[in-house]
Amino acid sequence: MVTFVTTNAGKVTEAQEYLDDPVEQVAFDYPERQADDLATVAAHGARTAYRHVGGPVIVDDSGLTIDALDGFPGPYSSYVEDTLGIERVWNLVADEDDRSAAFRGVIAYCDGDPFEATPEPVDTDRRGDDIDATERASATTDEQVADDEQLPVRIFEGVVPGTIVEPRGEGGFGYDPVFEFDGQTFAEMSTAEKNTISHRGRALAKFAEWLHLRV
Ligand code: IMP
Repeated sequence: MVTFVTTNAGKVTEAQEYLDDPVEQVAFDYPERQADDLATVAAHGARTAYRHVGGPVIVDDSGLTIDALDGFPGPYSSYVEDTLGIERVWNLVADEDDRSAAFRGVIAYCDGDPFEATPEPVDTDRRGDDIDATERASATTDEQVADDEQLPVRIFEGVVPGTIVEPRGEGGFGYDPVFEFDGQTFAEMSTAEKNTISHRGRALAKFAEWLHLRV
């Protein structure tokens, strides 16, 4: 059993397609920490979710990074979508020569166990890498630092490279109309077609492989 802490039932259905174990949804809307990278946001969410559930959990976080804008909007994708809107995001890069971008999705897993307790393929020498150094530096109290160190999180990232284009297509959600992959925007693809390519799917596939090998 895998517990996916998310308010989005669609993400749970997508996760079930990749995982052999049954995936249960816990719709706990944990407060998101602000940080400059998705992994830090997701890691913090996984720890909060783990404390809430009291057992192994996954959470996810995703966003769009635009190279010409130094990775913006990244972890602020949701806020930027709600405030600027995707048409204005397109306007920001319309005159750029390089309109390359990527969708990034992170699955963060926390089960309360230190990574030494897990067999390969977890590289025990690298266990500290999963807790981003900037996160420790940005922790607000000493207690938070100590607690973070006791709750390691495993991060699985999926990336889809693409190009920002003028909005096209009626399907999908979020930034799909401005994100072109292989000649089509995500909004021009069927859901099934998009799911085979998606950043979340790529992250889920990595998590599924790790979970499978770990048992
Ligand atoms: P969340 O992490 O899934 O809540 O997504 C963060 C932001 O990225 C929101 O603005 C979403 O609309 C956007 N986003 C996440 N995944 C996708 C996607 O597959 N297509 C388009 N936008 C996405």
